Formats: sequence, structure tokens, C-alpha cells
Amino acid sequence: MVGPEQPLLPGTEAPGAEFERKADEIIRQYPVSRRSAALPLLHHWQQEFGFVSQRAVEWIAEKLALKPIHLLELVTFYPMLRVRPAGKINFRVCRTLSCALAGSHDLFARIRERCGATSSAGHGMYVSPDGAYSVEFVECLAACGSAPAMMVEEEEFERATIDTVERILAKSQASRATDGVQKG
Ligand code: FES
Repeated sequence: MVGPEQPLLPGTEAPGAEFERKADEIIRQYPVSRRSAALPLLHHWQQEFGFVSQRAVEWIAEKLALKPIHLLELVTFYPMLRVRPAGKINFRVCRTLSCALAGSHDLFARIRERCGATSSAGHGMYVSPDGAYSVEFVECLAACGSAPAMMVEEEEFERATIDTVERILAKSQASRATDGVQKG
């Protein structure tokens, strides 16, 4: 069977005019074969909406005059395409050689356990049931000399341990509490 390892969510995303303008700009970059724009458009969608839904597949297929199955093949093949939203805090742990040797797989397992990231979001990402946390493997983050490396949002952490994770979680809890006080 061709398709992601779990069904796509139906999706309720509504691409706006600016999104569509950019999509058309991407398509224009592939004058010989519109089909070549499929992967860039899937990335464009994921960047905007966080993951690829059934709605995404249908919208892009129509735009490129392709069958949805052609898009599904790409979603299945490329691990960087998500079929579920990431958590509010998403840990991206490097699994390439230096980091693997320095214990990144153990770190990954400990993050999963600590954050209760038990639900598979496809392509090796795990999300906590409340959607607060997720963890996924990524390839080399160019910090091989300070392995294991991981990223949270745009911040990179080198020689990461479970203590690093605890600090990140504590900081995010503190900032949520401050937001609550300011709003209250
Ligand atoms: S191997 Fe992990 S940062 Fe390069």
C-alpha cells in the first residue's frame, strides 16, 4: 500500500491569498514539469500549517493537476514531512554518527519518557497526548564536536543531556506562569 503509515488528518486549513501567491511563484519555477513543484509545495504547506493533511494533498494535487496518490507517495517517502502537528515544544535530536555514539538514542528515549510522548505522529515523531511536547530525530546539526546535539525551536543545545531537557521544561513552565500572571 502506498500512503503514510497512518491516515492523514482531514484538515481544516484555509490557504489565504498570500499563501496561494507564493504557491504560484513556486510553480513558476518549474516550467518544464509542474509535478516537480509537488515537494516544494508540500514544504510550503507544512511551513504555514505545521503538518500535511488530506486537505493539503487535495489542494496541491488540484493545483498541479495531479492525482492525490502522487502527493501521498511523497508524504510517505520524505521523513521531513509531518502528518501530525508537532508539540508546542518540539525536541529535535540528532541521530547521525557522532551524536548516536554520544548517546542521542538514549536521550531520545528519555525525552519521550519524561514528556509522555507516546503517540506516533509518523516518520518517527512522538507526541504527548495533550499535544504539549513532541520529539523527533533529525540528521546532523553541524555540532558533531559537541555531541549529542539537539534543537528546540531555533535554539541549538550541544552536549545535551536529560538535565538540559529539564532546564528547558522548567524555563517554559516559568514563562507560561508569567504569562498567566500578566493576563490574570
Ligand atoms: S552528528 Fe550530530 S551534530 Fe553532527
